[in-house]
Amino acid sequence: MSVLDTLLTRVSVSALQEPAPTGPVLDRILEAGLRAPDHGRLAPWRFVLIRGEARIALAEVVAQALRLRDPAAPAEAVAKQEAKFLRAPLVIALGARIRPDHKIPEQEQLMSVAAATMNLLNAVHAEGFGAIWVTGANASDRNVQAALGIHPPDALAGFLFVGTPIAPPTPVRRAALADHVVEWTGSQAPFRAAPGSSPR
Ligand SMILES: Cc1cc2nc3c(=O)[nH]c(=O)nc-3n(C[C@H](O)[C@H](O)[C@H](O)COP(=O)(O)O)c2cc1C
Repeated sequence: MSVLDTLLTRVSVSALQEPAPTGPVLDRILEAGLRAPDHGRLAPWRFVLIRGEARIALAEVVAQALRLRDPAAPAEAVAKQEAKFLRAPLVIALGARIRPDHKIPEQEQLMSVAAATMNLLNAVHAEGFGAIWVTGANASDRNVQAALGIHPPDALAGFLFVGTPIAPPTPVRRAALADHVVEWTGSQAPFRAAPGSSPR
């Protein structure tokens, strides 16, 4: 498959099973992440690998964090969150080392981690595995972050769940180019304003 075909056929996969990439294959996938563009050469990427029994420990951290956020959380809701961290053989916490006082804006530092994550997703697919990028309440929970060694001002850009797709991935849902790409010819704002937005 050409590189472009790899990019065009990637889909997010949430139904995952063993095995996950390991050894040199995993290293190459991670190295692809580290090839993300990086303004100022700050290298903000901090990936935390969670696999095997460690996933059970992380699931317990997630459950405890949910109970602290919501002491009335039903047992089923807690179990659902725990199960998320056990369903994939490899979880990668997407840490961002943020330097708040640097001339490179924090947003750009975080964007580099997002770009690295996209490279990871594509590299996982290129190696015949599947993955999905997930954020949500667990990723923004300070207790979950602290358990993973991520402390402010550092950030957690989410989790990548990685493994082998249980079923063949569903065909790619392609956005229509015409909805997302225009030619700017020198004057008017090329995209229609979003409803409720005010002109700048
Ligand atoms: C920053 C970010 C956070 C996301 N968080 C979640 C999430 O918490 N739960 C979820 O189901 N999908 C989440 N998604 C969406 C999936 O990762 C995925 O992009 C989406 O299911 C579309 O699938 P596709 O990649 O095959 O187009 C997130 C995507 C991004 C970019």
